Amino acid sequence: MSSIPVNSLLLSLLLVVSVSLCFSYGSFTHGCSQIERDALLKFKHDLIDPSNLLASWADFLASSSSSTQYEDYLKLILSGKINPSLVSLKHLRYLDLRNNDFGGVQIPKFIGLMGSLEHLDLSDAGFAEVMNTLPSLVELHLSYCQLPRVPPVLHLNLSSLSILDLSSNYVDESAISMLNFPRWVSHLKTLLSLNLANNNFQGPIPNDLRNLTLLKELDLSINHFSSSIPEWLYDFNHLKLLNLRSNNLKGALSSAIGNMTSLSSLDLSLNHELEFEGGIPGSFKKLCNLRTLSLSNVKLNQDMADVLEVLSGCVSVEVESLDLAGCLLFGQLTNHLGKFRNLAYLGLRSNSISGPIPMALGELVTIRSLDLSDNRLNGTLPKSLGELTKLEELDISHNSFQGEVSEAHFANLKNLRNFSAAGNQLNLRVSPDWIPPQLVFIDLRSWNVGPQFPKWVRPLEHLSYLDISNSSISSTIPIWFHAQLLMPQDG
Ligand SMILES: *[C@@H]1O[C@H](CO)[C@@H](O)[C@H](O)[C@H]1NC(C)=O
Ligand SMILES: *[C@@H]1O[C@H](CO)[C@@H](O)[C@H](O)[C@H]1NC(C)=O
Ligand SMILES: *[C@@H]1O[C@H](CO)[C@@H](O)[C@H](O)[C@H]1NC(C)=O
Ligand SMILES: *[C@@H]1O[C@H](CO)[C@@H](O)[C@H](O)[C@H]1NC(C)=O
Ligand SMILES: *[C@@H]1O[C@H](CO)[C@@H](O)[C@H](O)[C@H]1NC(C)=O
Ligand SMILES: *[C@@H]1O[C@H](CO)[C@@H](O)[C@H](O)[C@H]1NC(C)=O
Repeated sequence: MSSIPVNSLLLSLLLVVSVSLCFSYGSFTHGCSQIERDALLKFKHDLIDPSNLLASWADFLASSSSSTQYEDYLKLILSGKINPSLVSLKHLRYLDLRNNDFGGVQIPKFIGLMGSLEHLDLSDAGFAEVMNTLPSLVELHLSYCQLPRVPPVLHLNLSSLSILDLSSNYVDESAISMLNFPRWVSHLKTLLSLNLANNNFQGPIPNDLRNLTLLKELDLSINHFSSSIPEWLYDFNHLKLLNLRSNNLKGALSSAIGNMTSLSSLDLSLNHELEFEGGIPGSFKKLCNLRTLSLSNVKLNQDMADVLEVLSGCVSVEVESLDLAGCLLFGQLTNHLGKFRNLAYLGLRSNSISGPIPMALGELVTIRSLDLSDNRLNGTLPKSLGELTKLEELDISHNSFQGEVSEAHFANLKNLRNFSAAGNQLNLRVSPDWIPPQLVFIDLRSWNVGPQFPKWVRPLEHLSYLDISNSSISSTIPIWFHAQLLMPQDG
């Protein structure tokens, strides 16, 4: 099952069917026509509904009773058959059968006759495959449908389609049958959003996509596309979201990426052979709408100071998430860091960044998660760290930090929950009565924490992980700690 809560899906089926029926007849306030009522009852009759989810459908349709009565039926799903009676619902615009289980049967052909449909969602509903004449359809969601092959559709008329989601339709790694690349998408000139993620597609990014220039969202992530990024893609200047994560893309990223000025989210991570000759192109400076940039495990091979310089213009004004883990970055962090005034996540894990943390770190007042682990950072931890009041997760493990860490470092870190700092030469110097933030995860392995067992562990009500091994503690473990270990944790 996907992670979408089941109750809202059932509700959307129940409510939306009634809304599209009853609201399309302005004057019908007491229910629906007899034909439509019969159609719905036939539809209900063929469904297997072990928990009687639809028990009140008659009442429900007649009296528009409140939806809260369905909230108890959280984890329940419908199965059985989809009765063709639905075709009688001539005004149905929205059909959502997500997250049910129709036992791997074919997608019923009669859905192709429901010419008024604008939104159809069959995701994760246990359908194994007729959608060729739905000129009003605006949204089509077929993710997790285990579609073995989408046949070439000869007389395709999906002339209004703007959202197509065919993600996650391969069965498993070893399966021979997998979704053929749906070449017919090249005809869907009105598409604004196309999701083909997680389908095991091989070969180059197909030219079939090149005329879909109105696209605002394109997700080709988690496939095996192995070409360079085609030149025509850089002309898609309406794209807000481009996700090419986890493919085998090769060749150099063109500086023409700077033409894609609508980009709000760009993910090129986990393309190990994608080349950034000379690092992030200077044309990135024009991507003023970027909020999320993920380049992890792409070989930038660049001085960190240059990366910060390129991004410190208009990009730094909007960007909220910056993931540059494993990018072969070297050199030092500079005070340009302080310009990222909306940053919530900064990931620099597994690079070769050296030198101290600059004072400007304290200016990242919006940051919630900071990962500097596995680098060559040295010097002391700046007290400005303590100014990051929104910080929830801090990972500085496996660097070369030295010196003392005091209560002042944590003074304002009221939201800190995870603190990983193993593998540094740091000494914790706090008073025995120190009350730390409500930490959940603490790794101070190989710090100098002792000689006494740390009393500040005692007030940590939600602690779920504590590593203070090899940290010069020579006292016995206090009795209250045994008791704390036995307490039920909610983390
Ligand atoms: C597709 O449907 C639209 C709307 O009904 C119609 O105008 C158009 O001519 C159809 N196209 C084809 C190729 O049948
Ligand atoms: C793209 O559009 C051009 C011009 O209309 C057309 O010649 C070409 O065949 C189209 N390409 C694809 C892949 O649909
Ligand atoms: C796209 O970018 C390239 C390289 O930066 C540039 O030469 C070209 O003029 C740009 N095209 C448009 C339409 O902006
Ligand atoms: C930090 O490392 C650099 C080399 O990367 C070195 O020159 C500098 O002296 C070190 N600083 C401290 C405080 O250890
Ligand atoms: C934070 O700690 C919790 C509890 O151990 C853990 O489940 C979670 O993955 C951690 N988050 C990060 C980003 O390390
Ligand atoms: C224990 O901590 C010391 C001092 O930080 C460090 O040099 C040593 O490698 C650590 N030993 C292990 C087994 O982690």
